[in-house]
This record gives sequence, structure tokens and C-alpha cells, in this order.
Amino acid sequence: MQAIQNKSTRQFLNTIAQGDCIEVMRQMPANSVDFILTDPPYLVNYRDRDGRTIQNDTNADWLKPAMKEAYRVLKQNRVAVMFYGWSKVDAFFAAWKDAGFQPVGHIVFRKSYSSKSRFLRYAHEQAFLLAKGRPPLPKQPLMDVMEMPYSGNKLHPTQKPVATLAQLIRSFTLPNELVLDCFAGSGSTCAAAMLTGRNYIGVELDAEHHRVASLRLERVKGRMARRFSPSFPTECIVSAPQRA
Ligand SMILES: C[S@@+](CC[C@H](N)C(=O)[O-])C[C@H]1O[C@@H](n2cnc3c(N)ncnc32)[C@H](O)[C@@H]1O
Repeated sequence: MQAIQNKSTRQFLNTIAQGDCIEVMRQMPANSVDFILTDPPYLVNYRDRDGRTIQNDTNADWLKPAMKEAYRVLKQNRVAVMFYGWSKVDAFFAAWKDAGFQPVGHIVFRKSYSSKSRFLRYAHEQAFLLAKGRPPLPKQPLMDVMEMPYSGNKLHPTQKPVATLAQLIRSFTLPNELVLDCFAGSGSTCAAAMLTGRNYIGVELDAEHHRVASLRLERVKGRMARRFSPSFPTECIVSAPQRA
């Protein structure tokens, strides 16, 4: 893998920046990240049982500019996986197409519980696999229906499970490559990148989520350092991150 040379990329490398991802990505060079894995606000005015809400979940002003910047910073012939809210598929699709992304797959994440019940019991999440250019096919493609265990949502109202994100990172990147999550929340993607030996850049607007995510990444780093210390028996090193 190419060494990460650029100064502005190095400034954000293996950190979660606090701020608006549009502004942060504007400071990053074009064609500088190997994979984008992100879970933006679904535009549904989400509120959980405890009254927790998501910033920018009520307006789509950020959507087109954010997708334009995401496309610009992604390297040519690479992919992005972006979660989205099914009820706002038109807005997301328009933003991805405007930015230049080509949809090359769609992933359904099956949950063991339903998060809401109306006309149906809603028990899946979804994401598009989006290409910039013509990425090579993975040697062993993942199934496009994946399990999504309950994360517990302790750190964030819509926290994604690290083990599921880690599978995507392993499939679409090589060790030491750079993963971007521009809507980082509690840092689940960044934790998955660290645990799989990839570099990461996270961006989170909300100051409290940013604080929680940064502390989480410190904890993961500490645990990994202890795990890989010479006094730790190597047979205890697990390849699939379970909890982070
Ligand atoms: C759906 S949540 C991501 C949750 C994350 N996947 C996790 O596991 O914790 C989306 C996040 O994007 C953040 N956000 C909203 N607008 C943003 C922006 N313009 N720049 C950066 N972060 C933003 C919200 O504060 C929220 O934490």
C-alpha cells in the first residue's frame, strides 16, 4: 500500500475529527481514501425511547454536498458502502448519482428484532454499494444479506455492530489501507477499522458523540496493545471483533 504522504490526510489520520464532514472532507485531497463506510442520518426525524435524536436528521441540505465531497476524496476504482433510510431512497439515490457514484450492489442487514412496527415489522437495515470508476471484483464476494446483531445502542442511539462493519472492511480493503466514516457517530466503523488493521478517518458533528467515540477508540487501542503484548498468549487473539 502507498504510504499516506499528504499532510492534510496525516492531520486526520487515525482520529475522529469534530465538525461538519463537508468542511473536513474539503480539506482532504482528492483520491485519498481507499474505502468509505458510513451511516448518515436517515432523514426521518429519529427519536429513540430515551428521547435521543440525531443531528441533521430533519433536513437534507447537507446530503448532496456531502456525497459530492465523499466521491471526490474516494480513490478511483474503489467502493463506498453507505447506509440509508428506505423511506428517503429518492433523495439518497439522487445525491449519489449527482456526485458520480454508480450503484453496484445493495445489502440487506437482517436484525433479530424489529425496531418499529407499522404496516410491517421493520427488521432490516440497508445500504448501497457504490463504485467510483471500475473497481476490481473481490476474490470472495460477501453475501448481500448479512446478519446485524443488536449493538445495544449504549454509546449512540443508532449504533451499528462492529463485527458486521468489520466484514465489509475486510472484503473491500487490504491491511493498512485507509477507511473513511464521515458520519462517525460513536466510532463503530473506526473501531472496526482499527481492529482489522486498517487506518481510519472519522468525522462527527455532535460534540458529545465525538467525545464518546474518541474515548472508545482509545479503549480499543489500549485493549489491542495489551492483546498483542509479548506476554499475551497468541492463541487468545481473536480474528473477528465481537465487542468494541
Ligand atoms: C446514523 S448516525 C451514525 C451512527 C454510527 N454508525 C454508530 O455506530 O455510532 C449519524 C451521525 O452523523 C452525525 N452527523 C450529522 N450530520 C453530520 C455532518 N454534517 N458531519 C458529520 N457528522 C454528522 C450525527 O451527529 C450522527 O451521530
